[in-house]
Amino acid sequence: MTLFDFFQAEELPVPAITPAQARDIAKTHFGVDAEVTALGSQQDANFLLNGSGGEPIGVLKIANPAFSRIELEAQDAAASYISQTESGVRAATNVERPGHPAIAELRADDGTVLYARIIAYLSGGTMSGAQYVTPDRAAALGTLAGRTCRALAEFEHPGVDRILQWDLRHAMHTVEVLAAHVTDTHRRDAVEAAATAAWRIVADLGEDLPVQVIHGDITDDNVVCSTLETGRMPDGIIDLGDLTRSWTVAELAVTVSSLLRHEGCEPAATLPAIAAFDAVRPLGPAEVEALWPLVVLRAAVLVVSGIHQASIDADNEYATGALDYEWGIFERATAVPMEVMTAQIRHMRRVSHPADTVTPDTPLIGGLDPTTVVRLDLSVESDAMDSGVWLDPAVEQNLASAAIRDGAAAVITVFGQPRVTRSAPLSPEAPATVGTGVDLWPATPVTITAPWPAVIDAATADTVILTGTAGAVEVRGALSIGDDLPAGHGVAAGTVLGTADGHVWVQWRRQPDAPVPDFVRPQYSVGWLSLVADPGPLLGLEPAAPPPYDSEELWRRRANSFASVQEHYYDNPPRIERGWREHMLATDGRSYLDMVNNVAILGHGHPVLADAVARQWRRLNTNSRFNYGSVVALSERLAATLPDPLDTVFLVNSGSEAGDLALRLAMATTGRHDIVAVAEAYHGWTYATDAVSTSVADNPNALETRPSWVHTVPSPNAYRGDHRGRDASRYAPEAVGIIEGLAAQGNPPAAFICEPFYGNAGGMALPDGYLKAVYAAVRAAGGLAIADEVQVGYGRTGRWFWAFQQQEVVPDIVTVAKAMGNGQPLGAVITTRAIADKYRTQGYFFSSAGGSPVSCVVGLTVLDVLEKDGLQENALAIGDHLKVRINEMATRHDLIGTVHGSGLYMGIELVRDRATLEPAAEETAAICERMRELGVIVQPTGDRQNVLKVKPPMCITRESADFFVDMLDRVLTTGF
Ligand SMILES: Cc1ncc(COP(=O)(O)O)c(C=O)c1O
Repeated sequence: MTLFDFFQAEELPVPAITPAQARDIAKTHFGVDAEVTALGSQQDANFLLNGSGGEPIGVLKIANPAFSRIELEAQDAAASYISQTESGVRAATNVERPGHPAIAELRADDGTVLYARIIAYLSGGTMSGAQYVTPDRAAALGTLAGRTCRALAEFEHPGVDRILQWDLRHAMHTVEVLAAHVTDTHRRDAVEAAATAAWRIVADLGEDLPVQVIHGDITDDNVVCSTLETGRMPDGIIDLGDLTRSWTVAELAVTVSSLLRHEGCEPAATLPAIAAFDAVRPLGPAEVEALWPLVVLRAAVLVVSGIHQASIDADNEYATGALDYEWGIFERATAVPMEVMTAQIRHMRRVSHPADTVTPDTPLIGGLDPTTVVRLDLSVESDAMDSGVWLDPAVEQNLASAAIRDGAAAVITVFGQPRVTRSAPLSPEAPATVGTGVDLWPATPVTITAPWPAVIDAATADTVILTGTAGAVEVRGALSIGDDLPAGHGVAAGTVLGTADGHVWVQWRRQPDAPVPDFVRPQYSVGWLSLVADPGPLLGLEPAAPPPYDSEELWRRRANSFASVQEHYYDNPPRIERGWREHMLATDGRSYLDMVNNVAILGHGHPVLADAVARQWRRLNTNSRFNYGSVVALSERLAATLPDPLDTVFLVNSGSEAGDLALRLAMATTGRHDIVAVAEAYHGWTYATDAVSTSVADNPNALETRPSWVHTVPSPNAYRGDHRGRDASRYAPEAVGIIEGLAAQGNPPAAFICEPFYGNAGGMALPDGYLKAVYAAVRAAGGLAIADEVQVGYGRTGRWFWAFQQQEVVPDIVTVAKAMGNGQPLGAVITTRAIADKYRTQGYFFSSAGGSPVSCVVGLTVLDVLEKDGLQENALAIGDHLKVRINEMATRHDLIGTVHGSGLYMGIELVRDRATLEPAAEETAAICERMRELGVIVQPTGDRQNVLKVKPPMCITRESADFFVDMLDRVLTTGF
């Protein structure tokens, strides 16, 4: 029996079978009475068969007549082989029915013989479409491809030696045969050029690439997913129609290319899939080198085949609809040079490729004395830059000029260092921060000479490029080049080429004709830097040390020395070492919008605060037993923000300490021990504040471990609590009843503690009149009212400086921290003189650092800047703007249940169903991960972890707020 040969029989229109005919075929040949739905395919006719109750029976496949029976038998044999060999991999096997053939032979109207069979229907749905794929899902796809290869390694069958256009061993031939169908000549040239360049590499390696039977088409369309704890993960393979003998690594290349059509899946985002495949079926050295060229070839084959198929089968919507995707894959596959991706893959596998070090015969630029050359550190951790003034390349020039004024003979940047000056805030993609050469600023004109015998490639007014055996050197900038250097001219080592009169850029490319951009994005820097060399030695300087910005390594070290119970953000967090306003900068120069830092209200790296602290540190830091001005000034300022009779201040170091002290004050004042708190709230980690905290998000055992002196009233959640909407007015009488009940039992409480704006649930206003009623009840029982303003105070809600003002009450004790110190450990308890005096019954009060001069200067400066920069007003304006935009977005995304909050204290509550309010916790976590990839730091909150907390620094601009909403909209639209 002859096997298929694409190059003998190119035209493959899908068999023209209608659903009605398919129904008849199922009945007549397989005894199956089924509802039939047509499924798309590029070359076969496929129909989903459902039973009368809608249950799936299988997929009726009527193979393209070009394929022989033995090829179909091979596919069915491979499917059952895989499912037997690799437990956990589901494969679409032939479901042979007793009394019926495994493969039925039909005759079409025109007499053609067609083969039909029913294949198992695998549940779970495919990964089709352009939606975003998480790194974990990409990895699962790579694992599945690896496991399939592992399973088929020993598989043999007479039906596998076919000649398919999809077999990448024939990729170049396929492109040559089909490229003519690409009518856009520009695109055709691009496809042919990319394929030719890739084939050059692959053909050389071909002999060393292992060959076996492969599935050949493990793509997003041909896998089905199971829902695991980690999300929907591909674990089943369908459609073995491209089963063939080929290079094993081709299986991976096909899988990788299919990822490239998904939202945000640029070449670097496929590395998790490659790593996962490699972990199952290790790639050999030749396979590593061939992989990305094969991805390019697959993309080229997809494009030419897609256009060809659409031209011969214009009615095949599946084929025509895929064309845009196929172009997208091609464009992404070729967006980065193959050498760069190959170097990235080598690096991922920790295969080093040490490059030769070449020393020049004479220095490119003579007379640079290493001892008088200053290296300009432009990293995120550099001390050369002051707060905020660095997000601008012009800063490089200014810093260089300053160093020259200070006596440097020349200033040079560090090769390969991610530069903070090249960072870009509010950018969904990592910006190009890594320099592939160096900038040089000589203090006086310097002579440029050929470092080795070379040929002049270009010599213009501002550029000279010369090529020798060690690669090409480009010098660009303020040059005076001799006019006797035509391109093509050979020069001896030491030939004077001209002078550099000012700033020049120097790049040394190892491969002369591979252009390398001046700056590249960090996720490709390993790859790009493998194509260049540090020009330092060319200038007579030592090579610069590679920049240490490995966040993973740091994370591992942290795990070794830092208590693991301490909370952290993200599984693989970026290394953040700098901040500015509402932006945070990672060591690779990536800028993140900080939407969670409710502590740094003035923003990060505030120069006024930094200067004030530095001045005070130089002058004095001691403790509040001494008599100094700042402790008095801060106490007066704080008291002045509060209504009478709250006039007496204790200064501590944190919100937990403040809460602890507030509880002790209440106990001391009343002589009682019992405390009433609101369920699901968080008040701190000290013994007492932890006891009154029942948020299971902060302590999963909170409810079981609550001591007997703590009593809770129901969480007054008007959105998802026992009483919703208007019924929320019932929470107050309920709480009052509990307090009165305690009093009646002879257990009257010392205090009622509550956040006056319900923070832990995502920033919800308490029901109208709630605190009035509850404060009245606790006071009637002889207890005190404590307002925990640690999160919600200090103007964050925009409309009120203190959140209790919203409830039109005055507490007996107020606790504050977080915003008060903008991140410096600083907290306070403010109460009445009478209550404060009662503390005497507990002894003295002293906190070594609470109220220290440095802390007080911080506290005063925060209040100054808060007022001067109008941050409360900004919280109101930006908060209202955000709310309008998020509410608009909610009309398009059902996942958004509601938006809580006021000002810059908001919570976006995500639900699976707006009627049942089922919390979308996994979705919220996944959204946060995806938002981070797009440059936004946002985190879940609440007991159900389904609320996105929106609590940015209060200096956030409207532009940043819009960026946050735009990115969230994008994630909700394109997947997470
Ligand atoms: C409402 C509330 N109270 C108290 C605290 C404890 O503050 P700190 O972390 O400064 O001890 C927190 C901290 O998250 C809080 O949110």
